[in-house]
Amino acid sequence: MREIASVIRPEVISLACAAPDAPPPEIAAAYARIVPELAGLSGEIGYHPAGYLPLRVAIAERYTRLGAPTRPEQILVTNGGQQGLTLLARALLRPGDRVVLETPTYPGALEAFREASAVLRPLPLGLTGFRTAVRSGAALAYVTPTFQNPTGTVLSRLVRRGLAEAAAAAGIPLIVDEVLAELAFPGAPELPPTAADVDSVITVGSLSKSLWGGLRVGWVRADPATIARLARLRAVGDLGGNLPAQMAATGLVADLDSLCRAQALTRKAAHDSLIEDLAVHLPQWPVAPVPGGQSLWIPLPHGDGASFAQTALRHDIAVLAGNGLDPTGSSDGHIRLHFRHPRSTLRDAVLRLAAAWADYRPPARISAPAPAFAI
Ligand SMILES: Cc1ncc(COP(=O)(O)O)c(C=O)c1O
Repeated sequence: MREIASVIRPEVISLACAAPDAPPPEIAAAYARIVPELAGLSGEIGYHPAGYLPLRVAIAERYTRLGAPTRPEQILVTNGGQQGLTLLARALLRPGDRVVLETPTYPGALEAFREASAVLRPLPLGLTGFRTAVRSGAALAYVTPTFQNPTGTVLSRLVRRGLAEAAAAAGIPLIVDEVLAELAFPGAPELPPTAADVDSVITVGSLSKSLWGGLRVGWVRADPATIARLARLRAVGDLGGNLPAQMAATGLVADLDSLCRAQALTRKAAHDSLIEDLAVHLPQWPVAPVPGGQSLWIPLPHGDGASFAQTALRHDIAVLAGNGLDPTGSSDGHIRLHFRHPRSTLRDAVLRLAAAWADYRPPARISAPAPAFAI
């Protein structure tokens, strides 16, 4: 994978990589708190393929508090949600296995399943046909039920329970990607983790969207045997995660709900202002608000996302084209914009988008490739 920061010129505003654009001050404070502890560590060699135990305990306690009773041995700490997905793909898939998933979806998951030589079995959003698809020879299913990347969709508790029960009845592991689950707007009804309703689902979580991607702390919640297997596989790659990051994350996980509530207002204000600015400067774009998350999924009135992204880049604005998020080709006419920048940056971004749209001439044929790296 390319390192995204190095391929974008500094003058470009990026609405492509959806993630917090700076660490919140609580991360530096958490590191400051662990310094004396780090200085006093002894009898600790620092290799923990399944994760630093106090962090596994803190994550397990949080699930238990949210209604999904969890023991620390059900948690594997990973270098972000992406490592969790990659390990799961390696553990659960053999070449040619079928993976049922919704489209469009998170491109990193598509990459992980493709790397395991799986065959993708895409379903529309809402996963109509899920029951039949998991019954007819699939090896794995993957869903992002809360603030889906890229659409922001939230599946109701009833629907997600139905999916989990259908997968369990078919004997298929269901990966529930809840990396974006903490991104509710203020006052939104809070849904418990899917594991609170069906314990057998495999959950992927992360601090990357709720706090900061640079922390590289995520996790997998599953049964202890699956976690032990993933930990063995993980040791092949890196023998375990960065211990100071996990020590800092231990305190952050305990405070995660209040940290997320504090940020939610800012994220909602940024969402509202992006929607308003788009309505003023690009009234021809059909833009729909989302109930939470961090991005808008926009069908362009004409042309395709990949060629528009190239025009936009000439106007110093980067957007994510839909073609990398959908193996069926049905999202080629979409772009994804995130709203994790300050409002003034978003305002500037919309002006650049409007200039790019005025300049945009769709090509006769789509030739732009899907981005090699997208989050
Ligand atoms: C749905 C989803 N899952 C997983 C990830 C990967 O998260 P991390 O940055 O923790 O590796 C992302 C990142 O964008 C995502 O959107």
